[in-house]
Amino acid sequence: MDYEEKKQKIEIIVNSEMKKIRTNELKAIVERIERNHPKSNEIYKKMKEIIPGGVEHNLAFNFPFPLASKRVYDCFMETVDDVKLTDFLMCGGPIILGHNYKPFIEKMIDVIQNVGPCHGITNEYELMAAEALQRHFPSCEMVRWYQSGTESAMAAIRVARTFTKKKWIVKIGGSYHGWSDQLVYDLHIPGTKTLESHGIPPSTFKWIESVKPNDIEELKAIFKEKRKIAAVIMEPMGGESGANPVRPEFNKEVEELCHENGTLLIFDEVVCAFRLSDGGGQKYYGVKPDISVFGKIVGHGFPSAGAIGGRKDVVSVLAGGVAGGDKKAYTGGTIAANPLTCAAAYNAIKLIEETNAVEKATKCANRLSGGLNKVFQSHDLPWFSYNEGAAIHMHTSCVFGLDLKNPTHIGQINERKEFMGHLGAALVDQEIISVAGSRFYTCLQHSDEIIDSTIEKIDKICKLVE
Ligand SMILES: Cc1ncc(COP(=O)(O)O)c(C=O)c1O
Repeated sequence: MDYEEKKQKIEIIVNSEMKKIRTNELKAIVERIERNHPKSNEIYKKMKEIIPGGVEHNLAFNFPFPLASKRVYDCFMETVDDVKLTDFLMCGGPIILGHNYKPFIEKMIDVIQNVGPCHGITNEYELMAAEALQRHFPSCEMVRWYQSGTESAMAAIRVARTFTKKKWIVKIGGSYHGWSDQLVYDLHIPGTKTLESHGIPPSTFKWIESVKPNDIEELKAIFKEKRKIAAVIMEPMGGESGANPVRPEFNKEVEELCHENGTLLIFDEVVCAFRLSDGGGQKYYGVKPDISVFGKIVGHGFPSAGAIGGRKDVVSVLAGGVAGGDKKAYTGGTIAANPLTCAAAYNAIKLIEETNAVEKATKCANRLSGGLNKVFQSHDLPWFSYNEGAAIHMHTSCVFGLDLKNPTHIGQINERKEFMGHLGAALVDQEIISVAGSRFYTCLQHSDEIIDSTIEKIDKICKLVE
């Protein structure tokens, strides 16, 4: 599905009355979830007493209560109530080989037993992992490991400012680059600016600007204001991992604009890497960023995973070791570059190469999004689906597509968000777990049969819509 068609379909959804699950059917779904998941419900009640909000995973399914998992394997999740769910959450993206993929886990057990998880000094896996990453991301002439995507994005903008000696950072409205103070700006829905910035002093955003997705003219206008822009940071497949679809030429246009103006281009590859293609968004769209940001995928689910890579002259502004007084950018992380995460990165990349995991997961994604569109058409629903590589979006309420300058849209945020929860519940009722009821990640283990049965289950959900 091309960009114009996606945009047109989003317009139709946000400008028409939202389709809903019939009230009695939703009630029945909630009752079944309560009956089938009593232990999860019990855990949630206790969690609320000790964990703020009772849930810590932003992408998890939360309505009518979050589920607690017991174990994961292949493309399945078993809950504490022994319900087996087909998993399209994939831990929020990083699992492309499949959960607990045996050849991977065997290697990791060996590392845990014979190397140890955390040394505090250089281990050879650090080098091996950097070389493996560079094999797929030639733009990453130098690599530095961090502990999360959030940290890596923070490091990337610090590097950009140090290198260019400029202060402004421009992001694409609605994009998520982690939760660091400066980047919690214009989050989720383009145009929301400081809406979600509680606890962050407004002065933090002094040098942060955002532009409307895909609007190269707005970006050009900002450059014309002669602001000194250190970097533009963007997710190559569009904000919210492509929920706000990118106009494909936009990436190249931003690259050119950046380079005409002595500004660096930062690609946030946290989700795109090894999911859009083995060389991430930069290979997929044929663009060469100056800095790339990586996160969870470089640990394939193992903790403490993040990295930046980029041009040698740029990334070498980072201080290495105890480097005082030489005007380098300071970053750190006690557990960063630990042998366990680096071995995970090294082994996962090798296995992705050997199994063609990205290509196979993409084939499943094509099958799923194509099948869903046929189902939606057969029910005469305006809903639609598309995928970029192994990331599939299923747009039903299109909360990300609301235009906050349109007075009729403003009041719809909560209702449309709530509906994503309802759809998440309907999916769980069909023993499917997705990302927030609207996104599906595929992996090497999702077979054609699993995809076809998922399409059939979503067809059943469509029958419940009023
Ligand atoms: C595109 C993108 N950037 C950055 C992050 C932040 O990564 P982390 O959760 O590892 O801090 C995420 C997390 O989902 C993401 O999707």
